[in-house]
Amino acid sequence: MSTGKFSPKASYPIGVFDSGIGGLTVAKAINDLLPHEQLVYFGDTAHMPYGEKSPHAIKDYSIKIAEFLILQPCKLIVIACNSASATAFKQVQAILPDKQFVINVIDPVVEHIVSQDKYKKIGLIGTKRTVSSAVYKKKFEKANPNMQLKSLATPLLAPMIEEGFFNNKISKTIVHSYLDNPHLTGIESIILACTHYPLIINEISSYYKGKLDIINSAEIVSKAVQRFLDEKGLLNTKKTEPKHKFFVSDYTASFEETAKIFFGASLKLKENNLWKGK
Ligand code: DGL
Repeated sequence: MSTGKFSPKASYPIGVFDSGIGGLTVAKAINDLLPHEQLVYFGDTAHMPYGEKSPHAIKDYSIKIAEFLILQPCKLIVIACNSASATAFKQVQAILPDKQFVINVIDPVVEHIVSQDKYKKIGLIGTKRTVSSAVYKKKFEKANPNMQLKSLATPLLAPMIEEGFFNNKISKTIVHSYLDNPHLTGIESIILACTHYPLIINEISSYYKGKLDIINSAEIVSKAVQRFLDEKGLLNTKKTEPKHKFFVSDYTASFEETAKIFFGASLKLKENNLWKGK
């Protein structure tokens, strides 16, 4: 698709997408920091989990969603999914006349950790796709070869959270059994490299008895969004309350219930299957 003329304006919304509703943790952090910015959110619930999909499928899905967001029109696209950020960042950038207008969830986190220069051995949990892509590892090696990254794929966690299992005995048992993995021994901090995981931060914190720094990308990414819009003169100056839009490719009442926990009770999901009839 040709994205035609791309002329972002301050009054346009910010487009945010994820494989499902996990990216709402990022949307929520953006909304908390920039309460006058309108958001258009797309959760590809018909195709989640992306963490189990092939790179070419994730690229195709991400391009289709990004095209939809550009047509809204959005002034910026935030890939609020580590699996898509690790796999389809360049492809999403390529459909925009100016590739700067896409922010992923990986670069701001790596830059933040490297600039802090606090840790030598960092743990990471994420989907199979994010871990097998080794994107975080490559970026850390490039930025600071003295930092060691210990990554563990934790594929049960995102579907578990989408099903509403967090802050309970089952989620605690699953999280603890993953974190027991000897591969993570000796880490000084842990990156939540999946946008669903802020919902199980209590389980992770209880495992480490509050003694390990947990790196939650949502807040770090929201600050990167603020900096970018500020630099470009694209922060919305109108102080009105924005009307956000939340789309999913496959609607279920249970997604909506969980999504409300992520974002707030006012949220309403609208089904928009971009692939219908294809
Ligand atoms: N939220 C997605 C991420 O950050 C993971 C969920 C999925 O596998 O679709 O990677």
